[in-house]
Amino acid sequence: MQTTTENQTEERREVDVGAAAREALIDDMLRQLDAELVGLEPVKLRIRQIAALLLVERLRGQAGLSAEPPSLHMCFTGNPGAGKTTVALRMAKILHSLGYVRRGHLVVATRDDLVGQYVGHTAPKTKEILQKAVGGVLFIDEAYYLYRADNERDYGQEAIEILLQFMESRRDDLVVILAGYKDKMGRFFQCNPGLHSRIAHHIEFPDYTLEELMKIAELMARNLMYEFDAESKDAFRSYLELRIRQPHFANARSVRNAIDRVRLRHAVRIVEQGGRIPQQELARIDVLDVRQSRVFQAASERGEAKETL
Ligand SMILES: Nc1ncnc2c1ncn2[C@@H]1O[C@H](COP(=O)(O)OP(=O)(O)O)[C@@H](O)[C@H]1O
Ligand SMILES: [Mg+2]
Repeated sequence: MQTTTENQTEERREVDVGAAAREALIDDMLRQLDAELVGLEPVKLRIRQIAALLLVERLRGQAGLSAEPPSLHMCFTGNPGAGKTTVALRMAKILHSLGYVRRGHLVVATRDDLVGQYVGHTAPKTKEILQKAVGGVLFIDEAYYLYRADNERDYGQEAIEILLQFMESRRDDLVVILAGYKDKMGRFFQCNPGLHSRIAHHIEFPDYTLEELMKIAELMARNLMYEFDAESKDAFRSYLELRIRQPHFANARSVRNAIDRVRLRHAVRIVEQGGRIPQQELARIDVLDVRQSRVFQAASERGEAKETL
């Protein structure tokens, strides 16, 4: 009889999921993520899933249902400027507010930070970076350079082994994110299956569409307190159409660089004009500020983009 009553009490005991989510500021974080990052729907979805998992883990812990903390090491693949570093920074903050890591900082490293030039230099270097990252996220950019297939005695292998140990032993307080091009990362994992099996989340960052790049440009301009008018916006779209086809196009990073150059031309134009101008002109991007780009000149020399001149 008594056990039945106990079971009934157990069943009736409630957990306030909404309050827990509010307290962890999950909705705020996800809303901010949506507002500040254009596109990246699959990435945002995965972040939402991870946030939910960690919140439920926390509630389960409070209900005495605790299990091992989930492993959250990740791999971000995508072309340059697709938002990998930016999302890693967000991820560190989110993991912190959900109590997964103690500090929530991001340490960015590449091969040179981890691998030494001489015998005995690699282990201390790798450990120093790992220690710095504990309590947060270690982001290893172009992680495949740690491994050199053509050289068995490369010190990179030593760094990988130490990394693996930390990923296992400090998994409750350190998240490692490996980042880089998709194809190179695939080959790297083939040669390092131990590493592959410790990565719980593989997240792909697609290239942005033209429309997304335009939204990113407007967002960046707005954050810098500039604004396109209808004409300069059209010109910037034509600029992007040409720029995308050129070598070394790097998604949102190229947009950022283009905006920087637009600012330069805007400033020069304003100063050269001199005299008294409406205050609003300090914020308005003119079509000329965009059209003077070398990208248009090069295109017209090749006989492209006639309609833009
Ligand atoms: N979805 C996005 N929305 C707005 N800005 C973005 C977005 N993705 C990237 N950026 C901006 O573009 C620049 C390059 O992004 P980054 O994260 O460094 O790319 P990656 O690490 O993949 O090379 C950064 O200044 C970042 O703020
Ligand atoms: Mg980066």
